This record gives sequence, structure tokens and C-alpha cells, in this order.
Amino acid sequence: MKSAKAWHLGMKEVRLITVAPRQRGQLKKPTWILVLVTLVSFFLVCAYIYPPQNSAPCYLFTSNGCKAFQKWLPPVLIREPSRELTDDEIASRVVIRDILNIPLTISVNAKIAFLFLTPGALPFEMLWDKFFQGHEGMFSVYVHASKDKPVHLSRYFINREIHSDTVEWGKISMVEAERRLLANALKDTDNQHFVLLSDSCIPLRDFNYVYNYLMSANISFIDCFEDLGVHGSGRYIEYMLPEVEKKDFRKGSQWFTMKRQHAIVVMADSLYYTKFRNYCKPDMEGRNCYSDEHYLPTFFYMLDPTGIANWSVTYVDWSERKWHPRSYQAQDITLQLMRNLTSIVESAHITSDETSETKTTPCLWNGTLQPCYLFGRKFLPETLDNLIQLFPNYTSRGLVS
Ligand SMILES: *[C@@H]1O[C@H](CO)[C@@H](O)[C@H](O)[C@H]1NC(C)=O
Ligand SMILES: *[C@@H]1O[C@H](CO)[C@@H](O)[C@H](O)[C@H]1NC(C)=O
Ligand SMILES: *[C@@H]1O[C@H](CO)[C@@H](O)[C@H](O)[C@H]1NC(C)=O
Ligand SMILES: *[C@@H]1O[C@H](CO)[C@@H](O)[C@H](O)[C@H]1NC(C)=O
Ligand SMILES: *[C@@H]1O[C@H](CO)[C@@H](O)[C@H](O)[C@H]1NC(C)=O
Repeated sequence: MKSAKAWHLGMKEVRLITVAPRQRGQLKKPTWILVLVTLVSFFLVCAYIYPPQNSAPCYLFTSNGCKAFQKWLPPVLIREPSRELTDDEIASRVVIRDILNIPLTISVNAKIAFLFLTPGALPFEMLWDKFFQGHEGMFSVYVHASKDKPVHLSRYFINREIHSDTVEWGKISMVEAERRLLANALKDTDNQHFVLLSDSCIPLRDFNYVYNYLMSANISFIDCFEDLGVHGSGRYIEYMLPEVEKKDFRKGSQWFTMKRQHAIVVMADSLYYTKFRNYCKPDMEGRNCYSDEHYLPTFFYMLDPTGIANWSVTYVDWSERKWHPRSYQAQDITLQLMRNLTSIVESAHITSDETSETKTTPCLWNGTLQPCYLFGRKFLPETLDNLIQLFPNYTSRGLVS
């Protein structure tokens, strides 16, 4: 009870500073410091209230016996700009670095939280039902339905809706909804990894494969690349200075998976979030900037570049190079197609500069070449029956070794 309350309070503090877009100038220094101190205390309180559930004795309040455990942890490399940091930046980076340096503690009941961001109904509920079946206790489901209240067909989705608000395409409300989903899912301390999915997303693998792939990688699969063209750095505006420099501006698909530390860091951030909220939006002095495509890639590129994979595990086909990616229809769904999607081992990024080149990078999972994709998107509802029928076949390939 107490802990839930403490959390709630903490979230309120976070909202407090994030919902004040236009009055940024009025946010005085003492307020910032107060808020940051609150955040740090909030985190310490949380860490104290929710001790790790496994036997690993090394945590925040023990000083001995954890050296060996900490040794293999990758060092946290926050990119330090050469210029002098502002007070707000210093404060923000201290909080973020400390959160990232907390040793990973995999609880025995570690779960993956599946966060569905949808306008209304989820046409693939019955496919996800097949995916989840038999893995009770290893996952949790959260639904943010921004327009219509969905009627659920699968028991895994019933009563899993969180409070929602309007989501407008390309606007900050999209990122707000993502944060709302993360906040609700973070309340359950067994949730160790968080996956953002849309109503057009389908699983490309079986549950065990997905679980092992995400849980043993220790990184977040956040898409991130540099696009020097009009639809990349061309969307940057100098108002983001000094915190966000043009050379650090990155792009990426919004469909992330995120480890717990990263989800907490996203909750704790208001400095960079506010910059994007105010200055990365459609029709901003003649530029169209979309925060959902730039905030997280830029944020993690600046603050934990080695902690992210730089590709999204959610497949989408941009090869037609139209404004929208390819949508799959019922007749497209064949075992061959599904096998093709699950055997891709290079991620592709299409840039918008003059060369309009496709940059491909091998998908290195813990140093070895592995299939890139766990989920796929832009499947039309009419594909459901074919997918359900083929699900056991296309997911029957081996586990990550
Ligand atoms: C990751 O790679 C290292 C070194 O190759 C290996 O020792 C470790 O077992 C791998 N981890 C997983 C989860 O496969
Ligand atoms: C991730 O962390 C676990 C311990 O929590 C460790 O056993 C595993 O080898 C790590 N995996 C990688 C890929 O570093
Ligand atoms: C992601 O890209 C950054 C550079 O932007 C790099 O430092 C990092 O190692 C990459 N992540 C992985 C897992 O390769
Ligand atoms: C699968 O991939 C092969 C080889 O790239 C290609 O020839 C074939 O047309 C693809 N099939 C489907 C259904 O996508
Ligand atoms: C799917 O797998 C089942 C059982 O292995 C098999 O009977 C069926 O023919 C397969 N379907 C396709 C389309 O390959």
C-alpha cells in the first residue's frame, strides 16, 4: 500500500515538471533542484521499498560482497559534451548516471510488460492469446486505448486497460501515452523489460524465444540512426540548444523495447523531454518534427549510447519508399513470407539526404549475428486467420542459443 502511494507521489512530481511546456522560462532554478532532489529521494525510497527478490546481495545499500557481481557490468558511458554544462544538465546527468549504475537484478519472477498503444480494438488479440498461452507469470499486458474502449476477446487483455488520453499522430501526446504506459507497468516491480506495440503488430516468434532474446541481452532495443537529410537533422531547430546539439540529433522508429533502468530514466527525465515537447512538433516554424521519432533515439544516443542496440526488433517494410510503410494483406501471408521476415539478420535504415541510401547494419546480439526481428507491424486485420493458422509453423524455429 505504502509503496504504491510513494510511487504515485513520485509520478505526480514527474508530471508536474513535464506538463508545463510553455512556461519553461518561469521554472526557476530552486524548483528544478527541488524536483531533482525529489526524484533522487523517490528513487532511493523505491529501491528501499522494493528490494530485489533474488539472492543477489549486492544492491544499493550494501557495500561489501558485490564487487565480483559488478565487475562484468558494462561501464555507463554518458557522452560528455566539450562545452560547459548548465546546472540543469549537471543535475539531470547525475540522476541518470546513478540510475544506470544500479546493478541489474533479475528477479525470479521477472516478467516482460507488453504495452499496447492503440486507438481502439486490437485485431490480433487472439494471435497474442496463442502467443501468451502457457506462459502465465512471465508477462503482463497493458493497453492504452486512446479513442474507443475495446471489447476484449482474450482473457489476457480483459481489465488491462490503463487511464488513457487523446493521441495525435506525430504530436507529443504520442510520447505522453508511451510514458503513461511505462509508468503503469513500472508499478509492478517484476516487470523487467518493456515492449511497446501497436494494434497492427504481430509476434514473429514464440514466447520463449522473445523472452530469452530480450531478457538475456541486458540492453534496450531502441532504434537510433543519423539521417542528415530533411527528414532527419533537417527537423532540428536551434531552440533546443544548449542541451540538444544538432550533431547529437538522432532518428528512429518509436517501437522500442526497454530494460527497467531505461524505463526509470525516461520517467526521471524532464530536461530533455521538455525540449522536445516544446520544439520538436509538427509545423514548428516551417519544419515538421515528430517527437516520437526523435526524443528517445536522441536522448539515449546522448546519455547511454552503448546501452541500446540501435535497431528496433519490430519489423516494418519501408522498401516501397512511400509516406507510409507497406501494409500486409491476407493474400500476402504465406509461410515463405514469415520465414523470410524471421531470417533477416541486417537492419535497414533509409535516410532522406540526396543519396537516399539504405544503411544496413548486422544485428549483433551479445556479439553474435542473430535474427533482428521479434515482432512485425502494419498487418491488416484481414490477415488474422492466416496468421493464427501459420503461427505454430513460422515460430517453430530454434531458440537463441
Ligand atoms: C554473451 O557472450 C559471452 C561472450 O561470448 C558469453 O560468455 C555469454 O554466455 C553470452 N551470454 C548469453 C546470454 O548468451
Ligand atoms: C546479462 O546479465 C546477466 C546477469 O543478470 C548475465 O548472466 C548475462 O550474461 C548478461 N548478458 C549479456 C549479453 O551480457
Ligand atoms: C549503438 O550505437 C552507438 C553509437 O551511436 C555505439 O556506441 C553502440 O555500441 C551501438 N550499440 C551496439 C549494441 O552496438
Ligand atoms: C523470400 O525471400 C526470397 C529470397 O530473398 C525471395 O526470393 C522471395 O520472393 C521471398 N518471398 C516472400 C513471400 O517474401
Ligand atoms: C504446419 O505444420 C503442420 C505440423 O507440422 C503441418 O501439418 C502443416 O502442413 C504445416 N503447414 C504449412 C502451411 O506448412
